[in-house]
Parts: sequence; structure tokens; C-alpha cells
Amino acid sequence: MDFRTPELDQLGATLPSTYFQLSTSDARDRYFADTRMLDGKQLAHNRFRTNPRTMADHLLEQMALTGRERWLDLGCGNGFVAEQIRPHLASGKIVGLDIAPGVLEAARTRMAGVATPCEWVEGSADDLSAFADDAFDRVTAIYMMHYVPDIDTCLHEAARVLAPGGRFILTTDRPDSMVEMFDAHFSAMRQMNAPEYLFKSTPKGRISLLNGHEQLTAHFAEIDLQTWQDQLRFTAVGPFLDFYAAHNYCCAASAPGDGLEPGFFTELRERVGEHAQMVIDRDGFFAVTKFTGSFICQ
Ligand SMILES: C[S@@+](CC[C@H](N)C(=O)[O-])C[C@H]1O[C@@H](n2cnc3c(N)ncnc32)[C@H](O)[C@@H]1O
Repeated sequence: MDFRTPELDQLGATLPSTYFQLSTSDARDRYFADTRMLDGKQLAHNRFRTNPRTMADHLLEQMALTGRERWLDLGCGNGFVAEQIRPHLASGKIVGLDIAPGVLEAARTRMAGVATPCEWVEGSADDLSAFADDAFDRVTAIYMMHYVPDIDTCLHEAARVLAPGGRFILTTDRPDSMVEMFDAHFSAMRQMNAPEYLFKSTPKGRISLLNGHEQLTAHFAEIDLQTWQDQLRFTAVGPFLDFYAAHNYCCAASAPGDGLEPGFFTELRERVGEHAQMVIDRDGFFAVTKFTGSFICQ
């Protein structure tokens, strides 16, 4: 599937090149304090996709499981991924690590009673001192590495706990993934003369499909990149606005609000909604194109 067009490339070039950085306390106590935001995003990615293969389908292929592996999932969130992979690890073991106790609790609840042994560990992915060298056959970091304060230490630690012959899989996006949504957001902010400090991209620029390879080479001998695309299509503005509002920092509900008028986010959401409605009236749907992929490292 190739959704790339010259128009999308052009839009991508207009996105801010600086990005927000999520603090550990914001990740733990604010954005991932509970599972609601993650639930909403995961549901929307699956419900509105046009690629028949889900992210878990791609990941399963990349993990190449025999069913006996010991798997460490860094930034495991609410266990949404683990639930889909687990049947392929009937004789294996799952350890999910996350900084946020709220989402970890959701993972624990979700996976309670499954046959594969599961362990849920609270901690930051750049400190894996709780785990021995070579303790895992698969280590994954799925849409989470851009939040980790010390990415280089995290990659070093991932390589240390990975057994010989194992795989480390880093799943992330291109910085211009979902550009239509971010363009609507930044255009509305420009119309509102929003303060300059809000014109930043998501933290994904810290480690993305574009710059991930150079950060991984210090820690892994073999690095293979597999990419795929998807296009979410929203034919009603409400579900799109819910999806938009679930994006950390770059959305109408969770951008840092210091010094902003109380109605700022309401107006921003209305303007983004008006734009999306105009596109839906014109095209039949509002498209959000995803450029995503995984580095498979050994
Ligand atoms: C976008 S979610 C992805 C969750 C899950 N991997 C998925 O794909 O469904 C990012 C996750 O990273 C976690 N996180 C953020 N900073 C972290 C850190 N320093 N160490 C471990 N997890 C972290 C968040 O709490 C959140 O659960």
C-alpha cells in the first residue's frame, strides 16, 4: 500500500522540526496515569484503518516466534499488544515494563488468568538493572522510545538483556506520519496566533524511522528496517476529534497550557473540527496517513 503523494510530502516539510520532550513525571502522572487515552488511540487505529493488516500482524512477523521465547516489552502500556502476541507464546514468558502504574494495572487486569506467565514491572526503560544479562529472547519497544529520557542507555540495556540470537525490535514512525492531522492542528494555531512555544512536533523526532538507524548502530551488529503504511479514514468529525485529542502535547486537550486563555483549547478543537468537516464534505472522509515501521536488531 502506498499512500505517499507529493502533496503529503509538501505538508510534511511544513511541520516544525523541534519537538516537545515529555518529562518522566508527565508520562507517569499525566498522559499515562490511566488507560483511557491509550484505549482511545488503539481503538481508533484499528477501527478506522484501511490496511487490512494490524500493527500486531506486522509485529508478529518481525518477532518470528517459536512459542518458547522470553519476551520483554518496554513501555508495554495497557497490554494491548501483549494480548495479541500472547497466543503465539504458549510456552514462553512475558515481562511488561512501564513507567506508569496506571496503565500497568490495566495490563495486569487485561491479562489476568492467561496461560503464559506474565510479570508487570514498574520502571523506566533506561534502567533495566532488575534483569540479568541475556535474560530475554525478544525485547520490544513499541511506540515508546521517544519518551525515554536516556535513549542511548536504554538501547545499551536492551542489548545487554538480549540473549545471543535474540531480537530487539524498535517500532516507531516517520516524523511526518499523520501529517494531515498535525497540519490541521498547526494551521488552526496559526489562525489563532498561538504562542510560539506551542509550535513543536511530537517527541517522536527524538528517535524515528529517519534517525533511528544511526542511534542503533552503536549497540546492534545487524539492523533491518521494515516499513508499512496505513491510512485512517474518518467519515464523521467526532471520532476524528477524539483521536486528535488523544495526542500528547499536539492536541486540543493536552498541550501545555501555561498562560493560555481558558477557551483556547475549545476554540482550537472547533477550528480543527471545521477543517476536518470541510475535507469530509469535499472528499467523503478525512484521511490520516501513517508512515510507520520497525527496526529489527540483532
Ligand atoms: C504510546 S504508549 C505505547 C504503549 C504500547 N507499547 C502500545 O504500543 O500499545 C507509550 C508507553 O510508554 C510508556 N513510557 C513512557 N516513558 C517511559 C519510560 N521512560 N520507561 C518505560 N515506559 C515509558 C508510557 O507510560 C506508555 O505506556
